Amino acid sequence: MAKKNILLLAGDGIGPEIMAEAKKVIDWFNIHKKLDLEYSEELAGGASYDENETPLTDDVLYKAMDSDAVLLGAVGGPKWDNLEFSKKPERALLRLRKEMRLFANLRPAICFEELVSASTLKPEIIAGLDILIVRELTGGIYFGEPRGIEPIENGERKGINTHVYTSKEIRRVAKVAFDLALKRNKKVTSADKSNVMEAGLLWKEEVQALHDESSVYKNIQLSHMLADNCAMQLVRNPKQFDVIVTDNLFGDMLSDEAAMLTGSLGMLPSASLSEKDKNGRIRSMYEPCHGSAPDIAGKAMANPIAMILSFAMALKYSLNFDKESNMIESAIKSVLKDGLRTADIMESGKKKVTTSEMGDAIVAKLKK
Ligand code: IPM
Ligand code: MG
Repeated sequence: MAKKNILLLAGDGIGPEIMAEAKKVIDWFNIHKKLDLEYSEELAGGASYDENETPLTDDVLYKAMDSDAVLLGAVGGPKWDNLEFSKKPERALLRLRKEMRLFANLRPAICFEELVSASTLKPEIIAGLDILIVRELTGGIYFGEPRGIEPIENGERKGINTHVYTSKEIRRVAKVAFDLALKRNKKVTSADKSNVMEAGLLWKEEVQALHDESSVYKNIQLSHMLADNCAMQLVRNPKQFDVIVTDNLFGDMLSDEAAMLTGSLGMLPSASLSEKDKNGRIRSMYEPCHGSAPDIAGKAMANPIAMILSFAMALKYSLNFDKESNMIESAIKSVLKDGLRTADIMESGKKKVTTSEMGDAIVAKLKK
């Protein structure tokens, strides 16, 4: 089996703490299952800025492009809040997404049975929940031009961002959503603001057209929902959804909302994928949906599960190790069943553990 190269970008805040736990899992698979996963570590975000005066060096970007999968912890923190836009830690993430052309962002919101009561929502609303948000990641208002802050008359300033999508960009992410829905419950909800935005209307029309043109996709139940209504429906009756496909900005918001359906933002992993190149290879990056949580950084409180689940997604989507990926999911379920909880998912009667105790417990379960 060919060696696989993984690039680890721990980043800032709790990033290094949760990455340390993912590394324990990678090491375990290398030693006990001979997976031959070679990894190297580089700086990204504020950590890179402190060292190199840029949130992402070209060298690290090229390394990311050449790797079989990138694992990213989190970037950002108050220390770098006042830097000019191009130097901010978040630019590392956005540049990696854009330059690696990671247009398809998969955010699965699954409510583990053991965490049903950890959510702020009623148990019957979220028990058994399994939805997948497919967020467009390289277009829309995050990247549209023109953008900037300009002086205008009377000493006032104008902030500009542009929400723009082409039919090709819409169709390629819709295709990902349809293909994934075929392997699930064959239901896709496309969320847009077609009642207000032209780009939203185009979104709706192109998703519908792609569906109608394909004899395979015709078997999928496609519906369109306004993004604001979708936000409401996610807390009212989330189990009506199977796959939600939406643009970059709505996907950002709807996925944070969906995270709370799983009990905690600390439980939500993600995969960002490119198209296949001519050799059939995809580029990919895996990261938890939560941020760098500077308020709890260094306190051994962070939940490493979203990070470890992100590695499990890498095994499935980039490294071709489905069985091993499922082993991680089972190990996590089993640890939760034993009552181990990091602070974010703590409930009375459970055992509160640190970040590394949670990582160790998950690794211990892999053996069984
Ligand atoms: C996410 C994050 C990022 C985003 C930030 C950190 C730039 O919120 O991945 O959801 O807005 O995309
Ligand atoms: Mg977000």
